[in-house]
Amino acid sequence: MDNRNGVPVVDGREEDSRTETNRSGLSRRQALGALASAAAAAGMAGSPAAAAPKKPGKPTGPAAKEAFIDDLIARMTVDEKVGQLRLISIGPEMPHAKLMDEVAAGRIGGSFNTVIRRDNRPLQEAAVKRSRLKIPLFFAYDVVHGHRTTFPIPLALAASFDMAVIERMARVSAIEASDDSIDMTFAPMVDISHDPRWGRTSEGFGEDPYLVSECARASVRGFQGAAPDKPDTIMAAVKHFALYGAVEGGRDYNTVDMSPLRMHQVYLPPYKAAIDAGAGGVMVALNSINGIPATSNVWLLQDLLRKQWGFKGVTVSDHGAITELTRHGVARDNREAAKLAIKAGIDLSMADQIYLAELPGLIASGEIKMAEIDARVREVLGAKYDLGLFADPFLRMGKPEDDPADDKAENRLHRQPAREIARETIVLLENRNQTLPLKKQGTIALVGPLADSGLDILGSWSAQGVAEQAVTVRAGIEKAIEGKAKLLTARGSNVLDDEKVVEYLNFLNWDKPEVVQDPRPIETMIEEAVSVASQADVVIAVVGEVRGMSHESSSRVTIDMPGSQRRLLQALKATGKPLVVVLMNGRPLAIGWEKDNADALLETWYTGTEGGNAIADVLFGDHNPSAKLPISFPRSAGQIPTYYNALRIGRPFTPGKPGNYTSQYFEEEQGPLYPFGFGLSYSRFTLKDLKLSATRLKRGETLAAEATLTNEGSYEGANIVQLYIADPFASIARPVKELKGFQKITLKPGESRVVRFEIGEDQLKFINADLKEVVENGRFDVQIGLDSHDVLVQSFELV
Ligand code: NOJ
Repeated sequence: MDNRNGVPVVDGREEDSRTETNRSGLSRRQALGALASAAAAAGMAGSPAAAAPKKPGKPTGPAAKEAFIDDLIARMTVDEKVGQLRLISIGPEMPHAKLMDEVAAGRIGGSFNTVIRRDNRPLQEAAVKRSRLKIPLFFAYDVVHGHRTTFPIPLALAASFDMAVIERMARVSAIEASDDSIDMTFAPMVDISHDPRWGRTSEGFGEDPYLVSECARASVRGFQGAAPDKPDTIMAAVKHFALYGAVEGGRDYNTVDMSPLRMHQVYLPPYKAAIDAGAGGVMVALNSINGIPATSNVWLLQDLLRKQWGFKGVTVSDHGAITELTRHGVARDNREAAKLAIKAGIDLSMADQIYLAELPGLIASGEIKMAEIDARVREVLGAKYDLGLFADPFLRMGKPEDDPADDKAENRLHRQPAREIARETIVLLENRNQTLPLKKQGTIALVGPLADSGLDILGSWSAQGVAEQAVTVRAGIEKAIEGKAKLLTARGSNVLDDEKVVEYLNFLNWDKPEVVQDPRPIETMIEEAVSVASQADVVIAVVGEVRGMSHESSSRVTIDMPGSQRRLLQALKATGKPLVVVLMNGRPLAIGWEKDNADALLETWYTGTEGGNAIADVLFGDHNPSAKLPISFPRSAGQIPTYYNALRIGRPFTPGKPGNYTSQYFEEEQGPLYPFGFGLSYSRFTLKDLKLSATRLKRGETLAAEATLTNEGSYEGANIVQLYIADPFASIARPVKELKGFQKITLKPGESRVVRFEIGEDQLKFINADLKEVVENGRFDVQIGLDSHDVLVQSFELV
């Protein structure tokens, strides 16, 4: 057992792959030496100006880095400078052969979507052998929740409320991706989402600024490991800066209009947290903010990011975003778009030809000063320097003879961490009469269109995840009950029954159509499922969304259970057999019927490569669930938003005293179906005796809040104890409560533990009307609970 950066390494393979990486890391350097002499012998370096960049000496402090980059910039032509600002995706935009020529001509800074060493090595060789200045390329990719191994989607990871889990996911992902020659990931995605209609809710960590910020930090720690120049690390480019999660109506790419107060209090902290944790890159959002696209937003990219936050890394536009400035209507043409982007501070232009086409002319005309271009180039070269690529362009690529024969080989996966991580993300929403855990005996009926889908369980943005390598729910259950119980299966329904929706989803950017419909009539499928259910002791129904429904460009008008699945569930319920509903989805769904009718309800999100095993572990009690919802679940789409930390208002709806003229929807029960932070356990936990160490707190000091958590049930298990603080009177209206801390506590049956939180000014500060961070005297309510709704309360006075 090893522990690297606080991330335990659990299986031998990880240890091995790291040792192998280190070993080949050394030989890679030797290989580079040979390569450099070969290049010199071949006369590739012509004039003195064309000499390869001097290797940075050791040790490499900031001054050495600056001097190295100054020297390089001084020797670059305009074309070479512009080239460094281009981030090119292989594909229809540019075929491999053309990319090689462009690289050799020094006209490309980096590439993304080339994900294997055999593809990337020739590109890097073209850069460091054939280009005049021999500046290495860097290779980026969307390593969002895994690489070869797919881990649960970020929304699920947040549900673990366990930062070691998130850091471990990112660490293993970085080990796998760097082994495939990836230098940078476009992650973490830390866009707060209050609107589950937005398909990219699945890619983020939920609705709460405190939780999302913690997840952001843990992700950066994991991806970047000890330092970004180590062979088994990748640089994190946090995205999408900024406020992308607040697109109006949850409709992707829509505009964002938001008060500065809300920005600073809710949406901006997670990006800042990632940057403070050392994220080397920032990806700029596609949306506009209060009328100004993020991509041309001087306030956002200069004043806030660089000046106020002191970000020193590289910025990258999102896909085609610079061209889109013309469609936002802020640039007349591509020329103006390029100018606006450079002036705002977009270093790398992703997947468009605009910088190449327009910057030389803009520089020649004096509209863009050389110093402005140099500033952008400096950030790109700085990132490459930090990635260790000037010291060794093949740092994450190694030697050809070490290339994996099969990139998708089973032994490149990290199954054990994937299973352990996945089971920490599954939320138990209902468990009537202790339906779960199930016994491994008798006859079990498994139905539902997602029960045997290796593709959907991976979730969207599953990088190089392979559906055939994923353990489906069916496979997981079969393995768990092998030789002990009988399994009967039936599909029961399709996920979707609207062919237009199917067509839309199949038109998304997948390699091949993903949604394959069972052509049988729904009645026939339900009949078959009911017949199977009738023969069983218990029914497990796996229902929800195909992965493409919770993806980029997948905004929904409803968050209902899609297709005929509700009909299937109703028919199963009518059999009178205990019904366990296993949800697979990437956003909160309106599951009122399931809440009221399922005997047990399990939110599994998309659990990844080992998902089926992890779900089986939970279903059969080999793992006691402890995850909690990182986002509120509304009752219906009409109720959105339902985020728990809303501002106080003058006429709040008061439970028990509904009345007219208070804030409510009159056709529906108020409040979310499930609140933020909610999740059950197989054991019964109680939280009692909230005590504060003082009722008055002096500035500069702290007080302790303590409560006793007891496991009164009969299973060992963990629970997430949550600290909320409310500031009932302040100079501005404040949220009704805000999460300020959480602890995951594991207890044996009968065991109790006093859980303690320290509270000081850090937990009490907020942004006031002048956008200043302040702490105001007065009463604060400390709330401690096992979810955001049911809490113990005590108050103190800040003096
Ligand atoms: C567009 C997406 O918005 C962004 O998140 C992603 O990183 C890029 N495409 C590159 O794939």
